Amino acid sequence: MVTGELVKLRALEPEDADAFWRWHNDPEVVRWLSADYPESLAQTRKRFADREPNSHAKVTFGIETLAEGKLIGTCTLRDATPETARAEVDLYLGEKDHWGGGYGTDAMRTLCRYGFEVMRLHSIALWVVAENAAAIRVYEKLGFQVDGRHRDSFRGEGRWHDMLLMSLLEGELT
Ligand SMILES: CC(C)(COP(=O)(O)OP(=O)(O)OC[C@H]1O[C@@H](n2cnc3c(N)ncnc32)[C@H](O)[C@@H]1OP(=O)(O)O)[C@@H](O)C(=O)NCCC(=O)NCCS
Repeated sequence: MVTGELVKLRALEPEDADAFWRWHNDPEVVRWLSADYPESLAQTRKRFADREPNSHAKVTFGIETLAEGKLIGTCTLRDATPETARAEVDLYLGEKDHWGGGYGTDAMRTLCRYGFEVMRLHSIALWVVAENAAAIRVYEKLGFQVDGRHRDSFRGEGRWHDMLLMSLLEGELT
């Protein structure tokens, strides 16, 4: 378990499957997320029951509020190798009533700290849709910088959107 100011990050449990299924069927939550093909609740539950253990290559956490102990989202560091000391991050809050309360910033800061201090990463990268202003604000607050723009690389709402590649190096986390 990894603790921040507002949230703690903990391993996912099979019982978390129902919340994930609900989040993935909420158009506002998935608006700027890369879409998977639709999954039934039974398939989601099976995937959670069969989940691989966390490892250096891929570690996924549930984001739980410290105050209420409520699961509000999830975050992952993936594709890490010891040789490159880099990983990519995915993060979202599925509980919309918790948006705008600082939880996303605290969860991202806590995850990056874990990546640098425990996993000994040197750089953490992410892709974000260029119109996702709230997410970009969170990442910039923490010290992420824009490395590049991948044009027309996200399909949503019937049109193409650019995505930004952002990264944070060891020592840059604020
Ligand atoms: C993006 C997300 C993780 C942010 O988490 P959060 O807890 O809502 O964010 P915080 O409250 O920590 O911070 C939000 C910041 O963005 C700002 N913000 C909110 N909406 C904004 C907008 N439309 N334009 C610019 N800034 C905005 C807030 O003012 C705040 O900045 P501040 O602290 O300087 O005032 C969360 O809203 C989410 O999961 N959204 C849906 C999925 C998603 O887009 N995930 C990211 C994919 S890359």
